[in-house]
Amino acid sequence: MSTATRQSTTGAAGLGTPGGVEVRLEGLRRSFGEVAALNGLDLTIGPGELVALLGPSGCGKTTALRVLAGLERADAGTVVVGGRDLARVPAHRRGMGMVFQAYSLLPHLDALDNVAFGLRLRGVSAAERRRRAGEALELVGLSAQAHRFAPQMSGGQQQRVALARALAVEPSVLLLDEPFSALDAKVREQLREEVRRIQREVGTTTLLVTHDQEEALSVADRVGVVRAGRLEQVAAPQELYRRPATPFVAEFVGQVNRVACEVGAGGAEVLGRRLPLLPGSTTTSGPGTALLRPEDIEVAPEAGGSSGGAPGGAGARGTVVQLVFLGAATRAVVQLDGGGEPLVVHLAARTGEHTAPGARVVVRAAQVPVLVR
Ligand SMILES: Nc1ncnc2c1ncn2[C@@H]1O[C@H](COP(=O)(O)OP(=O)(O)OP(=O)(O)O)[C@@H](O)[C@H]1O
Ligand SMILES: [Mg+2]
Repeated sequence: MSTATRQSTTGAAGLGTPGGVEVRLEGLRRSFGEVAALNGLDLTIGPGELVALLGPSGCGKTTALRVLAGLERADAGTVVVGGRDLARVPAHRRGMGMVFQAYSLLPHLDALDNVAFGLRLRGVSAAERRRRAGEALELVGLSAQAHRFAPQMSGGQQQRVALARALAVEPSVLLLDEPFSALDAKVREQLREEVRRIQREVGTTTLLVTHDQEEALSVADRVGVVRAGRLEQVAAPQELYRRPATPFVAEFVGQVNRVACEVGAGGAEVLGRRLPLLPGSTTTSGPGTALLRPEDIEVAPEAGGSSGGAPGGAGARGTVVQLVFLGAATRAVVQLDGGGEPLVVHLAARTGEHTAPGARVVVRAAQVPVLVR
């Protein structure tokens, strides 16, 4: 189905066309007894943008999504969609499509009727329902399974039907709460690529909740890291990974090595180099802990110092204690002579082939800005 056909049909919800509306969450608060699930959450999602919320269990991701959907009230704050404050708009009039983690198909209806079901609730005529449901199934690649019942479909197929059902209402906003987490790794990856393709095609503003970093980094335009009911940082995936705004973000997203360092005058002495500090650093003088990505540590054989490793002996000496072959690279664990947490580093394929556990190495920080706590 082309974008044109989808957008020519009018949205059922009256909240604007499916081409994408801006979503603004401002100062959202919601407590359950003593627990502050949302503690002043602010987030703006641009029209047609896909934002992923990432964060530890219990940090408020689902609550944020439910408040946006109107399924949960906020104690304070506003939800503005397409310029309209939704405070008085009930869930069924918000024009949002949702897909949850648990398979939620009605078992006594086939795939087509499951997709058509949401349209029926919105008062769409029978003929129109079948047409739109058929189109939505086509969009998720399930036309051939239109007359299968839930128990006759795989988990991945059921989630595709759930996605088709959410899209069939031509939602102004698509809300996905861990929609792939019950699926095995391969299906999960396929389905998330699919969602990304469809979301681009349809242009629906989308909020995806996940605790899978790879998923968030690979599909989202921007990723928001939530911590204790607030947004810690929201940024494009590369920015979030390379320039984390806080130590929490650095340690939560991707892998980091914690390396003792000396901080002062806007820089840190780390593993034989002086590195500029990233703005979010929380220690700016004296002893600190540098947070270094595995790929930000250079490794050279201890004796053969000429090959780009550590001229003049700069860097720290250590022993390779573990090697994991990953194909294109090898992950090595290095224990420094001076003690401390073992470092996880990446060796290029050929270096990896010529390294064995017990090998003596010199490690040095790469010349990149560093976050220190
Ligand atoms: N209906 C409720 N009643 C009581 N407490 C709740 C309710 N809903 C959420 N909470 C609490 O609010 C906090 C945030 O919950 P939420 O479901 O939003 O977390 P989450 O980030 O989605 O976590 P997860 O990754 O585990 O799904 C948690 O401490 C949770 O126990
Ligand atoms: Mg949740």
